[in-house]
Amino acid sequence: MKSLANKVVALTGAGSGIGRALAIELARKGSHLALADVNADGLQETVEALPPGATVSTHIVDVAQKQQVYDWADTVVKQHGGVDVIINNAGVASQCSIEDISYDDFNWVFDIVFYGVLYGTKAFLPYLHQRPEGHIINISSVNGFFPFPGNSPYNCAKHAVKALNQTLIQELAGANIHVTSVHPGGIKTNIVRNARHIKALDGTRDAAEAAARFDKIASTTPEKAAQTIVSGILKNKQRLLVGTDAYLLDGLTRLFPQRFSNLVGRVMLRGARPGDKSSPAHRI
Ligand SMILES: NC(=O)c1ccc[n+]([C@@H]2O[C@H](COP(=O)([O-])OP(=O)(O)OC[C@H]3O[C@@H](n4cnc5c(N)ncnc54)[C@H](O)[C@@H]3O)[C@@H](O)[C@H]2O)c1
Repeated sequence: MKSLANKVVALTGAGSGIGRALAIELARKGSHLALADVNADGLQETVEALPPGATVSTHIVDVAQKQQVYDWADTVVKQHGGVDVIINNAGVASQCSIEDISYDDFNWVFDIVFYGVLYGTKAFLPYLHQRPEGHIINISSVNGFFPFPGNSPYNCAKHAVKALNQTLIQELAGANIHVTSVHPGGIKTNIVRNARHIKALDGTRDAAEAAARFDKIASTTPEKAAQTIVSGILKNKQRLLVGTDAYLLDGLTRLFPQRFSNLVGRVMLRGARPGDKSSPAHRI
C-alpha cells in the first residue's frame, strides 16, 4: 500500500501502548480510524491524543468474542463506507510455568492473542476483497519465533499468529491483499503491567516489580514501534522485526536454534533458584 491517506484502518488494542501510538501515526498519515479496545477509558485517551481533524470512530470490542469481532467489522463498513486495512494488535500475557498454569489462564491468553487475531482476519477479509487494495497486519512478537520461559501461552499463541500470517501470505498471493507479520522486541508499554502475574518463574514477586524490570530492558518506545510498523505497511513488508533486540534475537536464533534457547532459559531462571544472586531478565 503506497499511501495510507483516506484509507479506512481498523485497529484493535487501540487503548494503550503500540495500538495508541499506531492510531496517532496513522492519523498523521491521513487514515480514517476505527479503533477498538475493551478499555473505554483507554480508547478515549487515545482519541484525545490524535491530531486535530482526525476521522475516528471508537468501538468496545472484546477480540476473544467471535461475534463481537464480526459485528464490529460490519459496523466499521457501515460507518466508514468500507475498510482497507485491519491491524490485529490487541494482546495480553501471563507469567507462570506450563506445569502450574491453569487451563483457564492459558486459554485467557490464547483466546485473545491467537483467536482474536484469527477472528479479526476472517471477519475483515471479505470486506478487504471489495477494495482495490487491502492490507492485514497481525502483531506477533519475537516470542513468535523464540520462546521465553514462564510465558507459555503467549509463546504458543504468538507462534500460531506467525503461522497464520505465513499461511495467509501463501493463500493471498494472487489477491490484492498484502499481509505483514510483525515481530516486535521489547516495547515500553503496559503489557507486563496488564499481565496475569500467576507465579513468575523469573523471581519477580508481582506485576509491579515485573513491569519495573521490563521497563528497564524494553529498548523501543511505542512511538518508534508505530513508525516502523507504518513504514513496513507502506513498503508491503511481509515480515517485520521491530527494535534492535528483535534483530539480535532473530540472528542468534538462526545461528544457534537450540543452544541459544537453552542458554536464555538458564540465564532467565537463574535468579529464581535459591542462593543465586544474579538478576533474571524478563521479556514479553
Ligand atoms: N510491549 C512489547 O514488548 C511487545 C512485544 C512484542 C509484541 N507485543 C504485542 O503488541 C501488541 C500490543 O501490546 P502493547 O505492548 O501495546 O500492550 P498494552 O497492554 O499497552 O496494550 C494492549 C491493548 O490491548 C487491549 N486488550 C487486551 N485484551 C483485549 C481484548 N480481549 N479485546 C480488545 N482489546 C484488548 C488492552 O486493553 C490494551 O489497550 C500485543 O499483541 C502484544 O502482544 C508487545
